Amino acid sequence: MQLIETDDGSYTLLDPDRQETYHSKFGALTESDQVYLRNSGMHQRLQAQQPTSILEIGFGTGFNFVHTANHALKSDCALQYTACEFQPVNREIALELLIHNVPHAKTLCVFTADAIHQISSSEQATLFFDHQTQLNLHRVDAHQHSLPESSFDAVYLDAFSKKNNPALWSTDFLCKLRQALKPDAKLATYCVNGEFRRALNAAGFRFRKLPGPKGKREVLVATPD
Ligand SMILES: C[S@@+](CC[C@H](N)C(=O)[O-])C[C@H]1O[C@@H](n2cnc3c(N)ncnc32)[C@H](O)[C@@H]1O
Repeated sequence: MQLIETDDGSYTLLDPDRQETYHSKFGALTESDQVYLRNSGMHQRLQAQQPTSILEIGFGTGFNFVHTANHALKSDCALQYTACEFQPVNREIALELLIHNVPHAKTLCVFTADAIHQISSSEQATLFFDHQTQLNLHRVDAHQHSLPESSFDAVYLDAFSKKNNPALWSTDFLCKLRQALKPDAKLATYCVNGEFRRALNAAGFRFRKLPGPKGKREVLVATPD
């Protein structure tokens, strides 16, 4: 696994076997902020101090979590963040990336890298950063994992591309995500391809394409029908 600098100066990881990066090469921080935190409506929700529950598919380096949790902490808002990851990355590499990308939240970065390390040797970890910020990490194949019903305000669907992760873009899996979402929740993702959009409709979502960050013309947000 290799750390690389993206166009906005933030780091991401390159998986040389799959030839995929963990975030956009055009800007990891920009992608995390726009595609996930803002498009999902969670930026506004946290700012309005509404306690928030987020599910992430593909925890990876933990960067989406740190970026979101940092905003929750600044907004003094409760956050419960649940994530599935079947191949935890190395603690040291995650820590280097996180501290580079979010230098003013060093304690949160260490907390997150330690959480990744913890699920390398156990299947589940429930950790509190403070009394308002909870991280529930599952080392599991998300497709096989059972999710609680009507529980999340947003899902960040951040799996690798369909080529490497077909099951996580399927109608079958999207039905499972839909059941896990609250009625007015949002699913945010970078993926807009036609087959995925048809799978969203078949799973009972309606979607909107939104302008993407640099390097990606469009991204997508979906809500249960
Ligand atoms: C694009 S990266 C996610 C980047 C991450 N959100 C971050 O902020 O670093 C995709 C992640 O999904 C994970 N993944 C792929 N297939 C999975 C599966 N079936 N279940 C759980 N995690 C999976 C990969 O191991 C990888 O960490």
